Amino acid sequence: MTVGSDTAPVPDPVEGLFVTFEGGDGVGKTTQAALLERWLTDAGRTVVRTREPGGTEVGVLIRDIVLHHRGEVAPRAEALLYAADRAHHVETLVRPALARGEVVIQDRYLDSSVAYQGAGRVLGRDEVRELSLWATGGLLPDVTVLLDLDPSVARARLDADDKPFDRLEAEKEHFHARVREEFLALAAAEPGRFLVLDASLPAEELAAAVRERLAALLV
Ligand code: TYD
Repeated sequence: MTVGSDTAPVPDPVEGLFVTFEGGDGVGKTTQAALLERWLTDAGRTVVRTREPGGTEVGVLIRDIVLHHRGEVAPRAEALLYAADRAHHVETLVRPALARGEVVIQDRYLDSSVAYQGAGRVLGRDEVRELSLWATGGLLPDVTVLLDLDPSVARARLDADDKPFDRLEAEKEHFHARVREEFLALAAAEPGRFLVLDASLPAEELAAAVRERLAALLV
């Protein structure tokens, strides 16, 4: 799906299917992306599974700054770094795959910027969304699966993983509460694009709900 703009270059036609997984840290996006990838591959579809930040070589460098830089990163700089990662990722990997008719399954996309930078860092959701739309030439997912979970439950899952927290994960509870609220508000504003699931349900049940939603689009 593409939102037009007078000044942006005309993008390639989009023919594949663009599916994104969104939600707070520790809600199980990676597990669901993997289950969906397996189902589609078994059904004979060509799938590109990717993520933001860090879906390209340039993105890996940006990911290291946004997640692991010790010391301050100004909120607007953080928003621009995520947008730069996204611009490069969409142009060099996502759009070409969609133009080949493939299915792109992506862990996080522009809704993460609106929730984390727009609401979490309080930069303003409209500005942050506009920035991402400019960066991507207006590419929106066909389907966005929002895995919704109480941040304190998600935090307990991350604690159990025993991995050190990155810059965003280390933010306080009220930051993550704002992020969750914003994701839910985004989903309510675009019910046609979003599928909201209760991420406390068993992984297989969630995967079945995702498959049901996509089945109609894949015929
Ligand atoms: P993620 O790759 O999901 O983390 P992990 O590898 O630990 O599962 O995302 C990294 C962090 O980046 C996550 O806390 C959310 C944050 N983020 C933003 O703040 N804005 C964005 O636009 C994106 C894509 C991610």
